[in-house]
Amino acid sequence: EKAGYEHFMLKEIHEQVSAIHNTLAGKVSELEGTIYLKELNMTEDEIRKLSRVQILACGTSWHAGLLGKYLFEQLAGIHCDIDICSEYRYRNPVMNDGTLAIAITQSGETADTLAAVREVMSYNCPTLAITNVVGSTITREVDSVLYTRAGPEIGVAATKTFSTQLTLLYLLAVKFALSRGKLSPNYVKGFITDLRKVPGQIQQILNQKEIVKECAEIFAHAKSYFFLGRHLNYPIALEGALKLKEISYLHAEGFAAGELKHGPIALLEKGTPVVIIATKGQTYDKVLSNIKEVKARDATVIAIAGNKDSEIGKYADVVLTVPQSSELLSPLLNVVVLQLLAYYTALARSCSIDKPRNLAKSVTVE
Ligand code: M6R
Repeated sequence: EKAGYEHFMLKEIHEQVSAIHNTLAGKVSELEGTIYLKELNMTEDEIRKLSRVQILACGTSWHAGLLGKYLFEQLAGIHCDIDICSEYRYRNPVMNDGTLAIAITQSGETADTLAAVREVMSYNCPTLAITNVVGSTITREVDSVLYTRAGPEIGVAATKTFSTQLTLLYLLAVKFALSRGKLSPNYVKGFITDLRKVPGQIQQILNQKEIVKECAEIFAHAKSYFFLGRHLNYPIALEGALKLKEISYLHAEGFAAGELKHGPIALLEKGTPVVIIATKGQTYDKVLSNIKEVKARDATVIAIAGNKDSEIGKYADVVLTVPQSSELLSPLLNVVVLQLLAYYTALARSCSIDKPRNLAKSVTVE
């Protein structure tokens, strides 16, 4: 049932090509520049009147939500807050009218998330769940459910459920932006064209996975690993670090690259591997400065960059490339490289990849 792959995780990383395709199926029209989310029980008027989105999630799903926050604010101009579920319940949140609560949970069974959803429902706001499991507990609690169509995910480390959660968050943010007149159908046509290219671009990354494997083997016994990203790729840096620690048991930390100089830089030593997501775009120059800061401490820079970037090789020790894409969609490609890096590091360390120690696929205790 692993279809020839050594582990479910590797199989599921590969399945992202079809999973994203399936999640998109029937939801986008390139011709009209429209997004169809008929499962969303909200009228156009209700979408226009939204004043706030409140995202609730844990772990990897929280990382998806963090990208969602950037998307809702940047594309749709809707204020968005995101909370870790185990914190939300106990912090007496201030809620106002016009808030849509979105719970993100691949399993639909995470106890912390269910508890946070029950808390948010006491404020009478509309609720939406993004989940992968049909009929899971969360689907019975909320007003609307959007399903990621990733298929069963067996590996404890979430991979295809994460990228399909991101896919739905892109669709939601763009739909809200359209309804609120923040994006034109013409822009959305271009966006859909680019989004549809993503599965093929992921396939290209997978075709070159041996390069990521070689890199993983070089640093497989590092004492500590750092992951840095900015803007839309900040959540991806956090996700890269979480994947690595979950399955390889290496100490890994993810940071917003700009925060490095505010403390974490003290941890850098000669040869510490620092993965830096260096996608061309709004913050590229700042990322190059971060690379220089890291190099000045003799740490080793592993950059993730677009394959048309001819500059990055001058700064980084190792460059892992992804097909050139828009900055907006780059998280969907960059994360695949980080999943492979975690996988091959764990493989080189002979770890129990599909069932890492101390972890369960769904966490049903608070
Ligand atoms: O099922 P959920 O998405 O609610 O799970 C949340 C976290 O427990 C989960 O993402 C966890 O961090 C995974 N092991 C990540 O790989």
